[in-house]
Amino acid sequence: MKLLEPGNCRVDVAAGRLDGASNRYEKLFSDLAGLYEDERAFRALLEEKGSSVAYEVTDFKPSANPGDMIIGVTRMEPGRVGREFYMTRGHIHARPNRPEMYYGERGRGVMLLESPAGEIRTVEITPRAMCYVPPYWIHRSVNVGDEPLVMTFAYPADSGQDYDIIAKVGGMRSRIVTDGKGGWMAVDNAAYRPRPQALVDSIMAMKD
Ligand SMILES: [Fe+2]
Repeated sequence: MKLLEPGNCRVDVAAGRLDGASNRYEKLFSDLAGLYEDERAFRALLEEKGSSVAYEVTDFKPSANPGDMIIGVTRMEPGRVGREFYMTRGHIHARPNRPEMYYGERGRGVMLLESPAGEIRTVEITPRAMCYVPPYWIHRSVNVGDEPLVMTFAYPADSGQDYDIIAKVGGMRSRIVTDGKGGWMAVDNAAYRPRPQALVDSIMAMKD
């Protein structure tokens, strides 16, 4: 077994980036078509800032070997499309039995989690709060604050991401929207269609 070298990456909380990261990717608002319920508001957003960055990820990925780990930072802009807060696309891990950890650095967020069968959980993420995403849960970050949401994360290096699991059923079962009083609430997504039981069973049976 060839030894890998230790890493020392500094979290730049103000910039929302990992100094010393080996990878970076960003999603523009124009990459997020079909995510939001209010299509008119989304088109207006595209005209205003379609080519600006909605969220970015910088990470340190030593390898993709089983047993290794990816660590990184995500930074999300604050704002809403209609009543709905800005969010990430969301995914389940391609190896769905892999977990993840998110740690709040700046801002106010919600981790929206959905089981393959459609159970919903929400976890608030504020500075120094650690969110455990268990295996088999679809997860999406939502910025419910009025400043950038910055979180660090760690997950097994061979997890992979499957985004289609959300798109195929009309989105996640809940949407995170303003409560009109400076807070947030979860409401039903009218476009959501439950997954067939056979699909739920096959996901829950997946191991490695
Ligand atoms: Fe993940």
